[in-house]
Amino acid sequence: MSPDELKQKVAEAAFIYLEQLLHANWVLGIGTGSTVNCFIDCLAQSSQTFVGAVSSSVQTTDRLNAHNINVIDINDVSEVMVYIDGADEVDSTFALTKGGGGALTREKIVASLANKFVCIVDESKLVNCLGAFPVPVEVLPLASHPVATQIGKLGGHPKLRSGLTDNGNCVLDVSGLEIDDPDYWERTINDIPGVVTTGIFSLHRPQEIFVARADGSIDHKVRS
Ligand code: A5P
Repeated sequence: MSPDELKQKVAEAAFIYLEQLLHANWVLGIGTGSTVNCFIDCLAQSSQTFVGAVSSSVQTTDRLNAHNINVIDINDVSEVMVYIDGADEVDSTFALTKGGGGALTREKIVASLANKFVCIVDESKLVNCLGAFPVPVEVLPLASHPVATQIGKLGGHPKLRSGLTDNGNCVLDVSGLEIDDPDYWERTINDIPGVVTTGIFSLHRPQEIFVARADGSIDHKVRS
C-alpha cells in the first residue's frame, strides 16, 4: 500500500474504535499532520454527537472549521477526553518524536490535558531508538543562537528551520542525538533557557497506538 493509503487506513481504524466510545459530552483533542487530516475527515462523517474539539494548530483548526466541527478554545476546557495525533518517530516504550509539522508546543499542551492519548502512525515511524529523525525544538526567536550553542554542547547538530510556528517562534531541527533515555532528553532540552518545548514526547506518551503495517493490517497496541 502507498504511504497515503496507510495513513487513511490507520485513521479509519482509530476512528472506528473511538466512535464506539464517543459521548455527547466529550471534548476531543486533535493533533496536526497528514495522518490526523484523514482522521478529521472520518470524524466529519460521524453521526455521533460530541461537544467539539480542541485544535493543536491553525492548519487543524482550518480543517475542523471546513467540516463544521465545533472548535473550542483550549482556555475554555478543563479536560480533553481523548487526544488523537500522529508522530514522526515512535519507540517501543511509546516515547515519540513530534513536530515535523511545527505544531509541537500546542500538541504537547493538548496532550497534557488529555485523559487518553491515542497515536496513529504507519510502521515506517517505528524505531528502536528516537533520534534519526531530527528532533524539533521550538525556541524564542531572540534565543535561537544561545539555544543552538547549548544543544551543540550536548552533542546535537541544530539547524534553524525557515519560517515561524503558529506561536511566532523558531524551530531548531536537531540531528545527531541518540535519544536512549527520552525522559532525560526531554527534561534536559526543555531546561535550556529560551526553549519553548522539545518535540520529544516522553513525559506525555500515548496510552494507545494504532500502527498500519505495510500490508494494510492494523496493530492496536496498548501501553502496559
Ligand atoms: C506536527 O507538528 C507533527 O507532530 C505531526 O504530528 C507529525 O509530524 C506526523 O505528521 P504526519 O502524520 O503528516 O506524518
